[in-house]
Amino acid sequence: MLIKSASLIKENEVTPKKDYDKSRSIISASRRQFLAQGSALVLATSFSPNTLWAGNKIEHYKKSNSPIKNELTPYELVTSYNNFYEFGTGKGDPAAHAHRLKTRPWSVTVDGEVGKPGVYDLEDILKRQQLEERIYRLRCVEAWSMVVPWIGFSLAELIKQMEPTSKANYVEFTTLYDPEQMPGQKRRTLKWPYVEGLRMDEAMHPLTLMATGLYGEEMPNQNGAPLRLIVPWKYGFKSIKSIVKIRLVEHQPTTSWNESARHEYGFYANVNPHVSHPRWSQSRERVIGAPLFTPKRKTEMFNGYGEQVASLYKGMNLKRFF
Ligand code: MTE
Repeated sequence: MLIKSASLIKENEVTPKKDYDKSRSIISASRRQFLAQGSALVLATSFSPNTLWAGNKIEHYKKSNSPIKNELTPYELVTSYNNFYEFGTGKGDPAAHAHRLKTRPWSVTVDGEVGKPGVYDLEDILKRQQLEERIYRLRCVEAWSMVVPWIGFSLAELIKQMEPTSKANYVEFTTLYDPEQMPGQKRRTLKWPYVEGLRMDEAMHPLTLMATGLYGEEMPNQNGAPLRLIVPWKYGFKSIKSIVKIRLVEHQPTTSWNESARHEYGFYANVNPHVSHPRWSQSRERVIGAPLFTPKRKTEMFNGYGEQVASLYKGMNLKRFF
């Protein structure tokens, strides 16, 4: 693949290791506080993350200057309270079972409306990308949220390197299909493989991230290793995990959740407190990891990223295109 070389990251933009070590000890303190409160959630899913994966550090990435840094969700919760139906529908299932997934070697198929179709080794793709930390709030359609220091690269850069044709109006992403490694795919919870999509301008938006890690380390399997999407102004289900295919297409792709329940999960899935899910309100959210009895948080339009993304939807009826 003809991908341009990553520009070298300046030394002072690299997060010093000690910063993360410091933040990990804050996390341990908050985890202790959480445990002291007797949270059923943590007790039910308690495990040692090091038993699940190697804990590989990511050494070189540009540091975030996010204003929501002090709201970080503890690492233990980010990696133990998950949605990844390929490993089961329980929140603890991905952490318990995702170790089955072999994430190296990993190839990504690029096809459709591109000048450079092919099957690319993930390592080759990564060598040419500039990794950055982005602290984003992930707001799930189930009305809970977390704040996570993701590490990844701009999807726009990757798309430019694929050389989109003039017919490339949408991007379709597909998760690995392998029921032996992903036993949840033996059940008909969704039509497998999991597919998601974005409009081209959404995919090219500078906030849209292809994530390869979190908390300074390689992506834990349960969070979507080795490569997942993060679109911070949309509900979490758009953030497809363990991606093996990226296809640029002319027409809006059929996506898994939209296909399974069209009236509940729209294609756009922009976080919108004014459009309720048919079975519950979207006006508030439970903050994962917040001390017991903390009031729910008010959900913000576009998950708080309205200033950056509202213009993408100018003139659109967001109740119709939810
Ligand atoms: N991607 C795949 N392949 N399968 C899934 O079940 N769940 C989605 C999304 N990506 C899902 C997926 C949903 S509903 C959410 S809220 C987020 O992943 C959860 O990401 P997290 O577990 O890292 O918090």
